[in-house]
Amino acid sequence: MGFWAFFLPMEHIPQELLQSFRPPAFHHSYFLSFEGIEGSGKTTQIRRTKEFLEERNFRVLILREPGGTTFGEHLRQAVLSTTTQLHPLAEAYLFAASRAQLLHEVVMKELSIPNTVVICDRYIDSTLVYQGKARNLGHRLVLEIHQHFPLNLTPHITFFLEIGLKTSKDRQRIRNNPKDYFEGQGEGFYRKLIEGYQEVRELFPARIFTLDGELVPDEVFAKIQQQLIGLIKADAPVEKDGSRS
Ligand code: TYD
Repeated sequence: MGFWAFFLPMEHIPQELLQSFRPPAFHHSYFLSFEGIEGSGKTTQIRRTKEFLEERNFRVLILREPGGTTFGEHLRQAVLSTTTQLHPLAEAYLFAASRAQLLHEVVMKELSIPNTVVICDRYIDSTLVYQGKARNLGHRLVLEIHQHFPLNLTPHITFFLEIGLKTSKDRQRIRNNPKDYFEGQGEGFYRKLIEGYQEVRELFPARIFTLDGELVPDEVFAKIQQQLIGLIKADAPVEKDGSRS
C-alpha cells in the first residue's frame, strides 16, 4: 500500500443502498454463491456442496457467471476472449446484463420450486471486486447498477474462499491453463482483488462467510457443511414441541 493510501477516505456507501439488497423469499429453496480469486478451490467445494445437498434430497443447479443462459454465454465469450481492453463501465454493465438475464430466465424460476438450491460460481461480489476495486469503478457505483429488481437479489450465503497471492500463483502454475482476459493481468491486479474481497465482506458481513482456502479441501468443506446445516434447519417447519424437523 502506498504512503498516501492511508489518507484516502473510505468510500461512503449509504445504508439505504446496502439495504436494497436481500435474498429471494422462497420456501425451502436456497440461493448460494462461491467467490474467490483463481486457485481458491471454488470448483471442488461447489461439487462437494452439490453432492451433500443432493444426498439430502435437494435439487441442485450449478450456474456460472458470466454465462448460464444462451445470451449470457455469448457475453461470456465476448468478454473473456476480447483482445482490446474494455472500459471498466463496459465490463460492469456486461456482467450485470448477463446476471439480470440469468436471474430472470433461470434463478427465479428454479427457486420457486421447493427443495431447490441454486449455486452460482461467482456473483455480484465478483463485480464489486474485479470492476469496483481492481478496475477502480468503486463499490458504490457497482451497487447502484445492481440496486433494482432482480439484480438486487443476493444469495442466502456466499462462501468466500480466501487464499494469498502465493498460493494462487502456485496453484495456477500447477494447473497451467491458458490465461483469459482477467487471468493474464499482473500481480498488482491480484493484490487489488485480495484487498477488494476484504472490503466487500465488510460491506455484507451477514451474508459472506469467509473460509481459509489454504486449508485442505476436507477441512474447508467441514465448515461449509456446518453453515449449510444451519441454513436448512433455520427454515425447516417447526414441530409441535417447538423443535425443527
Ligand atoms: P472464469 O473462467 O469463470 O474464472 P474462474 O474459474 O476464476 O471463476 O472467468 C470468469 C472471469 O471473469 C474471472 O476472471 C472473473 C471475471 N469476472 C469479473 O471480472 N466480473 C464479474 O462480475 C464476474 C462474474 C467475473
